[in-house]
Amino acid sequence: MPKDGEGSSSPFVEVEFENQRQRIQMIEVNVFNEKRSNTSRNFLDRARISGFSIAIEGEEVAQLYTLDKRSLFFLVCCAIIIAFGKLRHICSLFTNLQGYSTISEGHEDFIMRLYNRIEDCFERPICSSPDAWFDVVKRVTNDNNKIQKRTTNVSRCLNLGSYNYLGFAAFDEYCSPRTIECLKIFSASTCSTRVDGGTTTIHTELEEYVAKFVGKPAAIVFGMGYVTNSAVLPVLIGEGGLIISDSLNHSSIVNGARGSGATIRVFQHNKPSHLERVLRENIAEGQPRNHRRWTKIIVVVEGIYSMEGELCKLSEIVAICKKYKAYVYVDEAHSIGAVGKTGKGVCELFGIDTANVDIMMGTFTKSFGSCGGYIAGSKELIEYLKYTCPAHVYAISISPPAAQQIISAIKVLLGEDGSKRGAQKIARLRENSNFFRSELQKMGFDVLGDYDSPVMPIMLYNIAKLPAFSRECLKKNIAVVVVAFPATPLLLARARICISASHSKEDLIKALEVRSCSSISFPSLNLYTLVMNFKFIHMAFTRIFFYSVFFFHSQLNASQTDKLEELMELDLLLT
Ligand SMILES: Cc1ncc(COP(=O)(O)O)c(C=O)c1O
Repeated sequence: MPKDGEGSSSPFVEVEFENQRQRIQMIEVNVFNEKRSNTSRNFLDRARISGFSIAIEGEEVAQLYTLDKRSLFFLVCCAIIIAFGKLRHICSLFTNLQGYSTISEGHEDFIMRLYNRIEDCFERPICSSPDAWFDVVKRVTNDNNKIQKRTTNVSRCLNLGSYNYLGFAAFDEYCSPRTIECLKIFSASTCSTRVDGGTTTIHTELEEYVAKFVGKPAAIVFGMGYVTNSAVLPVLIGEGGLIISDSLNHSSIVNGARGSGATIRVFQHNKPSHLERVLRENIAEGQPRNHRRWTKIIVVVEGIYSMEGELCKLSEIVAICKKYKAYVYVDEAHSIGAVGKTGKGVCELFGIDTANVDIMMGTFTKSFGSCGGYIAGSKELIEYLKYTCPAHVYAISISPPAAQQIISAIKVLLGEDGSKRGAQKIARLRENSNFFRSELQKMGFDVLGDYDSPVMPIMLYNIAKLPAFSRECLKKNIAVVVVAFPATPLLLARARICISASHSKEDLIKALEVRSCSSISFPSLNLYTLVMNFKFIHMAFTRIFFYSVFFFHSQLNASQTDKLEELMELDLLLT
């Protein structure tokens, strides 16, 4: 970095975070500004996203904490929208004459107000398989997004949003014919739970292949990845147990942990030192109230974090868990098939013996191009889950063609199809991901995550930038996924790019060319943000007028109805 005053008149400050000190040019220190020096970007991002206060020596401290005007403006807009949402809720309590309480409470008002404006960026209907390019159905609205009508027009878009990491979700010369054949023999559904008539030969073969692929003695499969976490955790641990969860774990883990009845503690995202502190403190403290020993401790992390694209610091986490005799539960939804020399996930990537991870969870919805989830572990663990897990005992088993698709994909990855396509796909995914990430960084985008990870969040920060980014990309035939509150913190909205082995170099270059074109560069996004924010505020003020008229009108009606009823009663008495 340049020395003070060199090449610029801006002062420098020293910033300290995670025992690192960095000198940062003052003009680039603004926390919510997109413009930061390359050397300090990751450092500041980590500091900001972890929600840390950043200590600075010197008199410029105040400037670091300054939100830029747009973010502040946006926060004010959000506050106003929330306030009116609450007002509407209170009004509805008075005007609700049927005695029902409102069915959607809390933040729904806020989400619906904000979401409705940008709803065209979500749930876009697709009418082809999620390959490198897919067909997006065009929709039209005449009422400001309230109703979106599907048209018969489609646009062929470059798909940068699906989790089709290895390209198995499109037609595959090995997998697809076998899946179709399986559909003919077994049909789409078993119409039964696993313990009744829902265990076919395909299911048992799948469990054997999953165990072999991930390197564990046994495995159990479920019809849905989300349910795998939310139904398995409550079976593994309950009252008296302790779950220590990464702060950015997926909602399925959060739900499973909450449903278990165990005590939940959260450690700072992907920070082993904080995990150790939480473990030590809680082991010393024991269970709440009676301070007895915890019956069990499970530490839950993800292989690749779905909203951050970061690889889990598994080696350190495993070492800490061993030291404190805590079980390790790793959700490999995004890492299985995607990382490691032969696609076997984070253990292979970091050279960790799978025996050190007690519960290996994963989904088939990403790299395998299918649906469902799995738990792999010791024979004893899997046997226990087969007796006790409600998702096995009471829920329908995974669809046989979907199971066959997974078996075939695993066979390709293991080279059992007699080709080298599996290895080529994994190498291609890594190459594509690293190329795209480095190019985005060179272009000055704030990209989260690690090299080798196919998940690439591009930070947009302000929710109002999401529709601009998404719509402009779509206009140029690029389909991207944009993510905001409540999936991310309010001011950390982002576009999440998912790279696939089926993308060609030309596809990626096309996407980069579009990104760098002026219409979706940051100056125009900022202008758009301003307009959107004004729209939000305008919307809030017009709504207050509408609600007050509605409120007084309904009160008037209510009192008139009462009067009418009184008159009728009087009438009845008189007659
Ligand atoms: C980390 C993680 N776990 C679990 C799930 C749920 O998996 P599924 O979508 O297969 O139900 C997801 C979904 O994306 C995820 O990202």
